[in-house]
Parts: sequence; structure tokens; C-alpha cells
Amino acid sequence: MKDEQQVGLGRLGPSLPVPRDRIHLQKSSVCSRSYFVVVMVFFHVYIINVIALLLYVHYNSGPGEPPDPAAGRAPEPDPLPPVSHAGPGGPLYLPRIEGIRVGHVQKVALVPDKVHEMKTLSLKPLLFEVPGFLTEEECQVIVQLARLKGLTESQVMAPEGGEELAEELELSPEEIFNLLDLNQDGQLQLQEVLTHSRVRDGIWLTPDSLREIYAGLKADPDGNGLLSLEEFKRLSSNAFQRFLRQRGVQRSQLVRNSKHTWLYQGEGAHRVLRALRERVTRLTRLPPVLVELSEPLQVVRYERGGHYHAHHDSGPVYPETVCHHTKLAANASTPFETSCRYITVLFYLNTVDGGGETAFPVADNRTYEELSLIQNDIDLLDTRKNCDKGNLRVRPTQGTAIFWYNYLSDGKGWVGELDEYSLHGGCVVTQGTKWVANNWINIDPDYRRQARFQQMVSQQEGERHAPNRDRNHNPDPDPHSGMHSDL
Ligand SMILES: *[C@@H]1O[C@H](CO)[C@@H](O)[C@H](O)[C@H]1NC(C)=O
Ligand SMILES: *[C@@H]1O[C@H](CO)[C@@H](O)[C@H](O)[C@H]1NC(C)=O
Repeated sequence: MKDEQQVGLGRLGPSLPVPRDRIHLQKSSVCSRSYFVVVMVFFHVYIINVIALLLYVHYNSGPGEPPDPAAGRAPEPDPLPPVSHAGPGGPLYLPRIEGIRVGHVQKVALVPDKVHEMKTLSLKPLLFEVPGFLTEEECQVIVQLARLKGLTESQVMAPEGGEELAEELELSPEEIFNLLDLNQDGQLQLQEVLTHSRVRDGIWLTPDSLREIYAGLKADPDGNGLLSLEEFKRLSSNAFQRFLRQRGVQRSQLVRNSKHTWLYQGEGAHRVLRALRERVTRLTRLPPVLVELSEPLQVVRYERGGHYHAHHDSGPVYPETVCHHTKLAANASTPFETSCRYITVLFYLNTVDGGGETAFPVADNRTYEELSLIQNDIDLLDTRKNCDKGNLRVRPTQGTAIFWYNYLSDGKGWVGELDEYSLHGGCVVTQGTKWVANNWINIDPDYRRQARFQQMVSQQEGERHAPNRDRNHNPDPDPHSGMHSDL
């Protein structure tokens, strides 16, 4: 042993045998002392760890001690959560699923005989994917039911001269100009015009078509691509749309190019639709009453060439904002009305042969700025042209569900502000047909209004006694058609 060491050291300096040996001895004594210290430190750390562990075990499972429910229980897989029935007053607290990090997979119990995997796709918006949420047969049943009911065009051209929000608010051209001029430089850039006008009347304006319109209307005599206040004032309020209309608008130039229908999911509905509603309740972990009082299932068909440019499913929350679903309880009239879709659950009913992805152009972007959506003539909202330039795309696979929160939390367990990152759209279908369905969970950001609405509904249900209970819970068979076009 010693010989070997000497041979080893000898290689370093064979001409100095004596001091080499002494150095070797000194080194080894230093080594053994530090080795002892290290061992002692480890030993003490080990003892402290053992004591800490014993204390932990004692306090977490000691007899008579009520264990902390959050600390001791393994979070996944969740046991099949009981579908409880909250009172008509509603809950004060909306559970929100944690994303943890992108790519995180959690197991969820949605049906008795299967454990689903739920993968986090993004945190902004909080977006999840659940493969195999629906079986192939369930997808086929939903498509058949939609076909039986009949689908209608998702977007019809708004009649000309429809009421304008600007007119309703009695804004002058100067005021409108100032609203459009986001960077306040006294001129309107193409982006500024497009940011506000590209979805007006359901016609989608692109940088190219806007230039064409400027030329056709001689709106920009100095030809610099910018509109001054003087140039802007010479245009009528819907000059762009009128110009396009006169030239003829193709379906591909609309905001969305699809057909859809609505399927009632309340009591007495087809068992697949009822099962779907229950599964969505388990998935979102929301009180069942909120899911039951939400919109019916929307089924959408995109033919080849169909698309839906990127949009938010619901609107921003201002003090004046009222929701469609709680309007009666709101007792107010305001132009700021929106659908208050807290969660969107999107089901892919078939696997699309080409295209048709769901795009989230700004998912998990570091920052979000509306004006940055159009840069160098690339409009990130344009799902016919620029789907590949956004941050995230989901391929449509039969049976998969994705869902996301359109609103942030208010920090107190209720609905907060619109999550601007929830911007999404349907990329153009290049081959085959695309069938999807949407479930939206409607919750009023004003908690008291939601509670009053739920109280009104439960009173009505109480008055309408069980024997002559009407199957048509919703008197208007198609209450939400066309609603999407103005969002
Ligand atoms: C509606 O609002 C008016 C005025 O604010 C109030 O007098 C009335 O009682 C309200 N009605 C309901 C049903 O809340
Ligand atoms: C996405 O984030 C980057 C980096 O912060 C930013 O430069 C860009 O403008 C953002 N995109 C949008 C559409 O806001």
C-alpha cells in the first residue's frame, strides 16, 4: 500500500525522495483531521434530521391531533371528488387549478374506471390539456346530435348602418381619434387603426386590405400610410367596412368562417351530454350549480378553408360591465355587456387531416401589448396567415379536451380581470373537416349579482313544481347565436 503511494508520488518528483515522504505524512495527518471534522458534522446533521423527522411524524399523525389536511395528503391522483350541491346563495370561493409549471402532468379522476392525465400547456393563460377526455363514441354522438339539430353560419354579416358603440356613447370624431391614437403622437398608424377596427362588423381587416382601402377612398392623400386628424375627420364612421362591402366580402375575409349549433345539457338531455356536463364539473372543480347555469354546449364545424381569427372569449370588466347571463339580476342597461365566460373547455371531436390547430399567439409571453400584435405587417391574430408565428398551437386530436381561464383571480377567490394572454383562435383548416365543441362556464365578476341571479333561478325552479316541470329550461332555443361576433 505504502509502496504504491510512494510510486505514485514518485512520478511527481523522483529526484527528491526524503522531503517527499515528510510532505506525504503531513498531508495525511491534515487529511485525517479534516476527515474527522467532516464526519462529525455529518453525524450531527444526521442526528438533527432524525430528530426533526421524528417530531414531524409525531405532530402529523399523533393520536387525537387533527392533522393538517393539506400537508399530509398526497395531492395526486385525486380521489373522485364528490359532486356536492351548493346552496342557491352560491359559494364564496372559486377553486382554481394550479398549473405548477409548463409540462407538469397531474392525474385526475373524472370517470369511475379511468384516470386521466392533465398537462399544463401554459401559465399565462392557465391552460391545460386532457387527452381522452371523450371517447370516440361520445364524439360521434355529439356530432350526430349537432347534425340532427342543424348548424347555422357562425357569422352573418351585420346589417349595414347597425348601431355603433361610438354613436351610443356620442363620441365626436376628435374623441374617437384620440382613443385610437394609442401612442398619442397625433397620427394613426396602420396598427392603431387595425387594433380597433379589424373586427368591426365581422369583417377582418389586414394591413394590406387597409392600404387598399386608403387608396380606394383617397383617405391618405400624402400617401405616408398615416392618418392625421384632418384626414380621419373626412372619413365616415364605418367608411372602411362600407368600402369593403361594396367591393364584395368573401367568407374568408370574415372574423370566423364556420357553422355551429347549441345543444341543451340540462335535465332530460341526452345521456352523453349530461355525462359531459358532470365530467366538466369534476374537471374544473367548480360548484355544480355554476356549471348547470352556464351556456349550452356549442358544436362547431369548420370546412376546409374555415378559420377563426384570434380573440378573447369574454370581455374586460369595467364598473359598468354586465353579463348576459345575470342581466336580469343586474337591473341596469349599459353598452358594456359581455358573456362573462370564466372558463372555456374546448373538445376536439375529430382528428383534423390538415391545419385547424388552436393557436394561443401570446401564451406565456413575457409581456403583452396590444399594439405589438402587428409588427412588420405580421398580424399575430390572423389565423389564416400567421398561426406558425405565435407562441403555442394545439393540434386537434379526437377526444382531447383543453381548457383555460379567461379571467384572472381577484385574489379573494372570485373572478378578477380578463386575462389578456387568453387570446386564441382556430387556424385555417387545410384538409378535411374540423369538429369541435365548447363549454363555457359563466360567472359574474360581481359576486353579489351572481348570487342574486342564482337566487332568482332557484325561486323560479321552486315555483315551477316537479310534475309540470318544463324540459325547456331556456325559453330561447338559441340565446347565444351571433353573440361571439361582437366579442
Ligand atoms: C332597480 O333599480 C332601481 C333604481 O336603482 C331600484 O329602484 C329598483 O328597486 C331596482 N329593482 C330591482 C328588482 O332590484
Ligand atoms: C412578447 O414578449 C416580448 C418580450 O417581452 C415583447 O417584445 C413582445 O412585444 C411581446 N409580444 C406581444 C404581442 O406583446
